[in-house]
Amino acid sequence: MAWVYIEDLGRHLGEEATLRGWLYNRRSSGKVHFLLVRDGTGVCQCVAGVNDLGAEAFAAADHLGQETSLAVTGIVREDRRAPGGRELIVKRIEVIAPASDYPITPKEHGVAFLLDQRHLWIRSSRQHAILRVRSEVASACRDFFAERGFVLFDAPILTPTSCEGTTNLFEIDYFGERKAYLTQSGQLYAEAGALAFGKVYCFGPTFRAEKSKTRRHLTEFWMVEPEVAYFNLDDDMRLAEDFVAYIVARVLDRRSEELKTLERDLAPLERAAQKPYARITYDEAIERLRAKGFEVKWGDDLGGDEETALSNEFSTPLLVHRYPAACKPFYMKRDPARPELALCVDMLAPEGYGEIIGGGQREDDYETLRARILEQQLPLEPFNWYLDLRRYGSVPHAGFGMGIERAVSWLCGIHHVREAVPFPRMMERLEP
Ligand code: 4AD
Ligand code: MG
Repeated sequence: MAWVYIEDLGRHLGEEATLRGWLYNRRSSGKVHFLLVRDGTGVCQCVAGVNDLGAEAFAAADHLGQETSLAVTGIVREDRRAPGGRELIVKRIEVIAPASDYPITPKEHGVAFLLDQRHLWIRSSRQHAILRVRSEVASACRDFFAERGFVLFDAPILTPTSCEGTTNLFEIDYFGERKAYLTQSGQLYAEAGALAFGKVYCFGPTFRAEKSKTRRHLTEFWMVEPEVAYFNLDDDMRLAEDFVAYIVARVLDRRSEELKTLERDLAPLERAAQKPYARITYDEAIERLRAKGFEVKWGDDLGGDEETALSNEFSTPLLVHRYPAACKPFYMKRDPARPELALCVDMLAPEGYGEIIGGGQREDDYETLRARILEQQLPLEPFNWYLDLRRYGSVPHAGFGMGIERAVSWLCGIHHVREAVPFPRMMERLEP
């Protein structure tokens, strides 16, 4: 028996092959059954006629439940009309395990129901396509950095303090002796890595106790964070632009089938695969927003609606740099030309997807950084090791973080980040 994955059927035209998978759907003309079989790599139409199968097996095939696991053997044939362009003329069907009353049927279901059934929902074609794009994005991130000589430098998840402010920290009781926190970002540790290895990145789950129930917020999300010694803000922006253009090009190249399943408009992605991206300062962002009738105060962080309005003015992703330091975390370096500004950058995705990247240049002066920690009423003691990085051979350095779910949502053109991760965690959802 030659076991073949559906994605490889093209190399077996005219041969006998066995598919191992699950029954996705079926219909019958009475004389012929059409079984749609999926195996994770694709869906194949299996054509079963009574003459090939025999009367008994033919009758049984008409009662197979959706998601029955089975092995189907037959001859591979090219057929332009079939999904995937190939079909299998069935000789034998072996049921591995039956399934009946599968809860997710081809009819419409509500999102709350589907989220409860997430462990099964991921078998559906849309969810399947999204998660394959996610997998491609993660590989592209790793390849991008590996090709440029970055060292993978994993940051801890259990941490003694905050990185991105204390308002959305998950607190953990650590052996009844002290408090620990789930990391909000691996950045502080990546900085230590950059001063040891020159250029590093970390890539792992991060946590925010976000009480906001928006389409852009999860409480657990994955972030990829490069950090480079001797980089300034300009270098950092160039890296972010190269990085995103690389990922977009890769997904267009290798996941075009999935984007088609998702009915994704490719034009905005094709533009985002090209450099350079548009760049404006925060000051200019405020002017543009006011011209559009937004009542924004200089000094406020930009909200979702404002980000959407701004990015709609550009056809590429948009880099907004130099926000007021007061609305950014303690570690950001100030602009020496205008100390009220931070040397930071956010990348806004087009089409209303908002911020996908946040980053910038880090404060590298010992006294200044120490003063900022105190100013923000953070405890000094847990930051002692971090201050050491400024005590022993401090250098200018910069980095950024990209949220994987935000990037995947944009690439797939889906409404909510909850579909961009296998098992989403949100304020009101911890199951399954
Ligand atoms: O802008 P943020 O908070 O930046 C940092 O954490 C920096 N320490 C990163 C760095 O410089 N190394 O988060 C970075 C990105 C955002 O642009 C967004 O894509 C994503 O992480 N993100 C979230 N994604 C989903 N749900 C949330 N609650 C998110 N919060 C941030
Ligand atoms: Mg941010």
